[in-house]
Order: sequence, then structure tokens, then C-alpha cells
Amino acid sequence: MSLDLFSAGLAREIAAMKTEGRAKPPERVIVDYLAPEGARGPRYRLEGSPLEFIRMNSNSYLSLSHHPAVMAAADEATHRFGVGPGAVRFIDGTFSHHVSLESRIASFVGKPAAKIFNSAYTANLGLALAIQNKKTYWIGDALNHNCIIRAMRIANVPRTNKAIYRHNDIDHLAELIAKVPDDIERVIVIFDGIFSMRGDHAPIDRINAVLAPHRQRFAEGLITVVDDSHGIGAYGATGRGTEEIVGAKADVVVGTFGKAFGVNGGFVAASPEIVEAIRQKSDTYIYTNPLSVADCAAAETAVSIADSQEGIDRLTHLHARIAQFRDGLDALGLESIPGAHPVVPLMVRDTDKTTAMVQGFYEGGVLVVGLNFPVVPQGDQTIRFQVNAAHTEADIDAVLTVLDSIR
Ligand SMILES: Cc1ncc(COP(=O)(O)O)c(C=O)c1O
Repeated sequence: MSLDLFSAGLAREIAAMKTEGRAKPPERVIVDYLAPEGARGPRYRLEGSPLEFIRMNSNSYLSLSHHPAVMAAADEATHRFGVGPGAVRFIDGTFSHHVSLESRIASFVGKPAAKIFNSAYTANLGLALAIQNKKTYWIGDALNHNCIIRAMRIANVPRTNKAIYRHNDIDHLAELIAKVPDDIERVIVIFDGIFSMRGDHAPIDRINAVLAPHRQRFAEGLITVVDDSHGIGAYGATGRGTEEIVGAKADVVVGTFGKAFGVNGGFVAASPEIVEAIRQKSDTYIYTNPLSVADCAAAETAVSIADSQEGIDRLTHLHARIAQFRDGLDALGLESIPGAHPVVPLMVRDTDKTTAMVQGFYEGGVLVVGLNFPVVPQGDQTIRFQVNAAHTEADIDAVLTVLDSIR
């Protein structure tokens, strides 16, 4: 009875979200994967539809999820160690696959050490729990991912000890850093590398330049943290992400194995001291089972492929398809935000039109995501396309043909 009352209360909340246009639509269920064939890239079947869909809404930028070596690595690790770890890492749940993935990803992003998590989301929460104390001050970009905002809350950062700069407005960042009280001991400047709704990136070089005069001002220093979940593996000539594109480094790199690498998990790559603080203090690392050995083996193989000639070839193909798609948008006279990342936003700037176009794409056999308020600000309603390395030239042409017919 009491559960009925409780459930009715929740149902009213969801109904209000629907009325306000904030509720998510029902989830589409993928029921089949059709492997690429000749000039045709992979296709997906969805429950309740006879169509074969092109996915333009997958984060798997290098298309490694079906790579035979990645799947074989997961199989082999599973057959050796089983499907689950049996315990958290500090209670003998650490397997050699965890340790070797940590050193592999640290060397890929050029940091001395790394800690892996179940996702980039939990990595950000864990990092914040490890480095926050009462004398810490945080400054972040206004468009930072939800997990960074949540990380500051979960680490109990008081309102007085945080500030937000307008998106990529480095003059505003300069004003905010100048105002940080001198009795603060640690400062953390944190930003997405690639901003996932827009495909643009943080100017780490300019961020470093405005922070340089303040680096020695605080007793325990000032560090930069980039969460380059969408950039690592997909962006830059060798897939090193935003740091490679701008030619400047952040002190700490957070990332995911769940996007360009097409697998599961997240990581923090940093100094050995930060990594040890995570091991000692991060609840999202200590009190939860780690990735399975299959996930780790698959991720390590995916990183190694990304780091090889095959990875460069995949990136080159990906970048060519992005350029093809962007040229197509230009030829149709449509508005985007400039950039070279696989996230390509089409600015629609109207909620009803966005919804209608997403439906039009669906009927044309193309899966895309529409981003409406409050996910993006009012007026910035967008269709987000994500190009990946499995798309063929013919696939991109097919998507552009559908777009032309429904715009
Ligand atoms: C900047 C950023 N961080 C973290 C995440 C979450 O990554 P994961 O799925 O590994 O938790 C995302 C995903 O959209 C992201 O864009």
C-alpha cells in the first residue's frame, strides 16, 4: 500500500517531466548487428522495425567493438580467469590484466601512472574524492560534463570554493583565478577536452598560459585536469586527443575506454602520488568490483591497436569520412560548429523541428540523436551526428541523401 503511494508520487514527477519536455523517449532496442559487406558498412536492426539502420549515434569512433583481436583477447582472459573478479581490488580482486591495462593507458597518454575505473563517470567521482580537502578550490568550464559537476558535489566542495567560467572563455578564467583567496592551498582547473554536445575542444594551450603566473601562488599547487573522454583515441594525428591537437598538456588526464576504444571502463592518468591517493581514498575505486578481466584484456588490445599502424589507418579513414560529411553539410547550406572531431552537430535551433528530423532520419534508416533543452541551452537545439571508422563513403553519402530529403 505504502509502495503504491510512493510509486504514484514518482509517476507524478515523471509526468511533470514529460509535460515540461524534459523526459527521455522510450529506449530503442538493438536486436541484431549486420557485419559490413563491400561498400556497405555495418547495419543494425531494432526491435519493431523491418529496417537496417546506419548508426550515426555511436561513440565507438575507431569501430573496435567487433575487432577480432579485441574479442579474442576478452575470450582468452575469460577462459583463464573467469567472468568476474570475485572481490574488490584491495581484497585480492586485482588481476594481472588490471595492472597491465593501467600501465598501457598511462604510456598511451604520456603519464607516469594510471588507475582504472568502471567508467569515466566513476573515474571523475573517484578523482575528486581523492584530491579534495577543505583548502581546495575548483574552477570549471560552464559546459563540463555532468560527471564533473557531480564529482564536485560528491566530494562536498562548498559553494565558496568553486567557480565556473563561460564556455572556453579564457579571459573569464583569468578573472576567476585572480580572485582565488591566497589562503587556499590547492587549486584544480577542470574541463572537458572535447565537449560532447558540440565537438569543439578546450584550448589547453591558452588555459595553461593564463594559469602560469598562478602556479606557485598556492601552498600545494595548481593543477589542470582534462576529461578527454571523447578525444582520446579519436582526435589528433595519433589519437592522443585534445592535448595533441592544441600541442599542450594538462597535469591529469581522465578518459574512457567506452568511446574511441569501443570497450568498457574509464581511467585517471596522473602522477604516482595522485594515483596512490585514488587507491587509498576513492570510494568509487575501493568499494566496488573492478572491471572484469575480459574488459581489461579487450581494452588493452584496443589501445594497442590504436597505437599501431592499423590505428593510424583507422584514424585516417575516420578523418576522411568526417571531412566528407562536413563538406556535405556545407553543400546543403546547413549550419554546424566548426571542428575536426567525429561529433558533428547540426544546429537546428528549434525543438519541434529537431524532433521531426530525428523521426525523418529514423524512417530513412539512420539513427541520430536530437539534443533539446535542457541538455543544450534554448536556441541551441541540435542533431548530433557521430562519424566512426566503420562508416564507408557510401554510408556517409546515404546519410546526406536522407538529410537532404527531410530538411
Ligand atoms: C566528458 C565526458 N566524461 C565522461 C563521460 C562518461 O563516460 P563513461 O561512459 O565512460 O562513464 C562522457 C560521456 O558522455 C563524457 O562526455
